Amino acid sequence: MKQIPRRRFDCLVIGAGGGGLRAALQLAQAEAHVAVVSKVFPTRSHTVAAQGGINAALGNVLPDNWHWHMYDTVKGGDYLGDQDAIEYMCRAAAQLVIELEHYGVPFTRLANGRIYQRPFGGQSQNFGGEQAARTCAAADRTGHALLHALYQQNLRAKTHFFDEFFVLDLLIDDQGYALGAVVLEIESGEPLIIEAKTTLLATGGAGRMFRTTTNALINTGDGMAMALRAGIPLQDMEFFQFHPTGIAGIGVLISEGVRGEGGYLINSEGERFMERYAPGAKDLASRDVVSRAIYTEVHEGRGCGPGKDHVLLKLDHLGADVIKKRLPGIRESAMRFAHVDPIEQPIPVYPTAHYTMGGIPSNRFGQVVMPAHHGPEEPVPGLYAVGECACVSVHGANRLGGNSLLDIIVFGRAAANHILEYIVENRYHRPVPQAGIDQALARLARWDKGGAGESVDEVRESLRAVMEEYCGVFRTQTLLDEGISKVLELEARLQRARLRDHSKTFNTARIEALELENLMDVALATVHAAAVRTESRGAHSRLDFPQRDDIHWLKHSLYSKAERKLDHKPVRMKPLTAEPFPPKERVY
Ligand code: FUM
Repeated sequence: MKQIPRRRFDCLVIGAGGGGLRAALQLAQAEAHVAVVSKVFPTRSHTVAAQGGINAALGNVLPDNWHWHMYDTVKGGDYLGDQDAIEYMCRAAAQLVIELEHYGVPFTRLANGRIYQRPFGGQSQNFGGEQAARTCAAADRTGHALLHALYQQNLRAKTHFFDEFFVLDLLIDDQGYALGAVVLEIESGEPLIIEAKTTLLATGGAGRMFRTTTNALINTGDGMAMALRAGIPLQDMEFFQFHPTGIAGIGVLISEGVRGEGGYLINSEGERFMERYAPGAKDLASRDVVSRAIYTEVHEGRGCGPGKDHVLLKLDHLGADVIKKRLPGIRESAMRFAHVDPIEQPIPVYPTAHYTMGGIPSNRFGQVVMPAHHGPEEPVPGLYAVGECACVSVHGANRLGGNSLLDIIVFGRAAANHILEYIVENRYHRPVPQAGIDQALARLARWDKGGAGESVDEVRESLRAVMEEYCGVFRTQTLLDEGISKVLELEARLQRARLRDHSKTFNTARIEALELENLMDVALATVHAAAVRTESRGAHSRLDFPQRDDIHWLKHSLYSKAERKLDHKPVRMKPLTAEPFPPKERVY
């Protein structure tokens, strides 16, 4: 049998979005030997699609401080976020945004030369007072600007890139050490073993499990599924964010920055309906609140258009200058996908699947942690996770807009710092187990054999429709239980499925099948966790359990693949230095 080539690194970073690249940069600058594996060219990673900005209490436009930011984040997450990690993130924000500026991110400027900041949802001054303006923006293309700057800095620091390589599975030895991964070069279809003293998962979210989504084709929950297969549970998967303003019917993102600049939502009666749902914050309430309001307006018959199936986002009153200068990408998307020029007409919008709050359990050093039967949870040696694939948990039950770019920058750096310490203490590569390699390759062999059933594409589209119908903005026990059976049926169908046209699209089709296996595992985790949590909290809205229930449910959930069962662990309510913010009624 042909020998599979091997490469060795101090650190293998899986994923080239902002989290992976920020970590890689820190490592490469410290002269660690670091490889980044990405299934797409790095600047096509999904960070590129982040529009509105990155939160930091710079106070450039309105008074602000990290403690108010912390309060808003805890409240936005409906008190499920771990307050030590949230304090760490909010305190680090200002310094890391200035550092990004120095890396070359072309932030929009105020007249005095400082970084422009716009108001975003769920932000307040003085612990729940007036609206704050905390989101640092590069027009409406902040993620694009940030990703390109980080990529260029990595090239300068001599990070090694494996572009267009797909990771089949992690390599973990029988003592639990993470030792790299088996990857596949997409172009040639040839496998490669990457041995590494440390492995960092930065693979992003799983929004492609829903039919209507802001997420790119690549967001298939690969890292989360790898963790599940390695016996690591996923945390808080029931909390999936639906962004209020996707272009109706197709889900393309229309940034919260539009409402931050003064745009607002109206129903078919021309009513500015958010005043009824959130009298204080109105259109800048947190995303879960605005998404539920839009859903309710439409389902109570006040939707717009011939199908009465969306609401309208009005921004013409902002004037052509503001729209062209601050929201050029939004104008382009509206014209291209909704066929309206927002300088003159409102944009038809409806909630769209956007962000996975749950993920691989990690701590504020980026270490992946496993529940221990007795005593505190334990890190998986050498394994790290940051960004949307991880659950640290700073977003709790609902992420605030502008906190995802911050999360990846803060915890990308934190993980790299920890890795640098780890590789000093773990200087030598440990032997990689052959069984792990064989198991990873077996994933490929299954698709080489083909199958007699329907095509992988049909199964994927059915999964996305089922998740949207049975695990959407509002949920009930009946819907979720039916959702579980339907996804299990699809899982069985996937086992019999076949690739589309082998001869023409062999590698791409094979990768899509492997991605669908990943998505299926993550969808099962999501719908199972949602069925078990009998309360409403943040983005998890149960019509049959409409109240938050802190007595029974102020805890994280942990879903494991082997038994398909849910465990729980406490929320870390104690911040690092600040006083805790105890749960209270959440009103906007
Ligand atoms: O609406 C937006 O611009 C998205 C930002 C975010 O998800 O943080």
